[in-house]
Amino acid sequence: MPKIIPVAVFDCVVFGATGDLTLRKLLPALYYRFRDGQMTPDSRVIGAARSRLSDDDFRQRAKEALEKHVPAIDREAEIVSRFLRQLHYLVIDATAADADWSRFHDMLDPEHVRVFYLATSPDLYGPVCRALATNGLVTEDSRVVLEKPIGHDLESAHAIVESVGKVFTEAQTFRIDHYLGKETVQNLMALRFANTIFERLWTADVIDHVQITVAETVGLEGRGGYYDRSGALRDMLQNHMLQLLCLIAMDPPVSLDADRVRDEKLKVLRALKPLEPHEVATHTVRGQYTQGAIDGKPVPGYLQDLGTQEPSHTESFVALKAEVRTWRWAGVPFYLRTGKRLPSKVSEIVIQFRAPPFSIFPPEAAEWRPNSLIIRLQPEEGMRLEMMTKDPGPGGLRLSPTGLDIRFETTFGRRFPDAYERLLMDTVRGNPTLFMRRDEVEAAWTWVEPILEAWLSHPDKPRPYPAGSWGPTAAIALIERDGRTWHESAES
Ligand code: BG6
Repeated sequence: MPKIIPVAVFDCVVFGATGDLTLRKLLPALYYRFRDGQMTPDSRVIGAARSRLSDDDFRQRAKEALEKHVPAIDREAEIVSRFLRQLHYLVIDATAADADWSRFHDMLDPEHVRVFYLATSPDLYGPVCRALATNGLVTEDSRVVLEKPIGHDLESAHAIVESVGKVFTEAQTFRIDHYLGKETVQNLMALRFANTIFERLWTADVIDHVQITVAETVGLEGRGGYYDRSGALRDMLQNHMLQLLCLIAMDPPVSLDADRVRDEKLKVLRALKPLEPHEVATHTVRGQYTQGAIDGKPVPGYLQDLGTQEPSHTESFVALKAEVRTWRWAGVPFYLRTGKRLPSKVSEIVIQFRAPPFSIFPPEAAEWRPNSLIIRLQPEEGMRLEMMTKDPGPGGLRLSPTGLDIRFETTFGRRFPDAYERLLMDTVRGNPTLFMRRDEVEAAWTWVEPILEAWLSHPDKPRPYPAGSWGPTAAIALIERDGRTWHESAES
């Protein structure tokens, strides 16, 4: 077990403290860090929201959230109650002109690192930061954490970045993409740059194409208001999936320094071939689920989940084909797909190598499957390298694909911390490596925007797909037109 070093003493102020993200992700993550000795006894978590709650009410909500989101085996009553004592609550309408900030002054310790976590709607980021500055709450040792999505399009993202930038420097600004905090996503860097075997093969000469699938079984989960204004392209692809693509496609950074890593990711985003309006129809597929069944249980359709009869043009599924225009990747398509209410929750990246140029084996000897490296991000985190091997025994030479497997859970035999645990502690440490730099956010929007515009100007609705299926059949056609298929392990 690696030694856990406590981070600096901090006050973490969470705006949006009664919201779903705080209860489901942030408080459990802070609890685990507290339990493992990383949160010092004088550090505090201060929930801030408009609801009129006392410290004790907030602690009660936090307790219930931990009971719901932290397995019983990890909850020792005495540790939970010590953790809850470090929670406080402040009633504030952060954007109201007459908001009383004086209690913040009294409460925040000038010696502590200050983390202002904005778990609110993005249009509040600018106003809240302004209010923090006007009320003299921003110290040199302060950081602001912004949840994605940063904006709705390039223009709104730019406006947010600008207004937050008037208060916090780039080094103080932590734009979260929680996928970057996942153990298996960080492992992509280790896989590529701590080993020599793959890096030399990581080129268009050897790789045929790459697939990235992020499939979810959940529907709108009570977040319909946000989701229907967003859709899969903005909610998942513009951030999480493009970040995964960057980690696969980037060149080796010269060091692990935050900016050197982010420079390389930025180059990939800038090398993405922009989709022309006429290409959007052939290179992208958007879908919306209708009622169906998952795991044998009936589930409602998108509009029912949304609680409306009105038609909605929001996509809950997107598949697309992207190209990275560099020497390394020229001619290698990247197929990306993500959706809600798909048959299983699985995130994986498939590096599909080219087939041998010709075969010395008779056709009847094998059902050829070119080598592939499958990187499982969740669940059953691990990697599998599929290769052709000879079937044992006499009776003629027969070949079949076999896998070399690493399953992280069995290899390491311990709990994988949730992404938020690492990311929260990184903000306290002031380490921005796993956060998106301003230019990355803007470059990602720049690439996505022509797709949004083309969809908007196109009267077609997203294609329906029954909940529990792998999206509209057009998503299968998207890849099959190129003589390829979606990797089946995601689908089994
Ligand atoms: C969030 C999206 O960023 O990621 C959600 O807003 C999505 O819609 C979630 O469900 C998926 O995260 P994970 O870690 O469960 O794959």
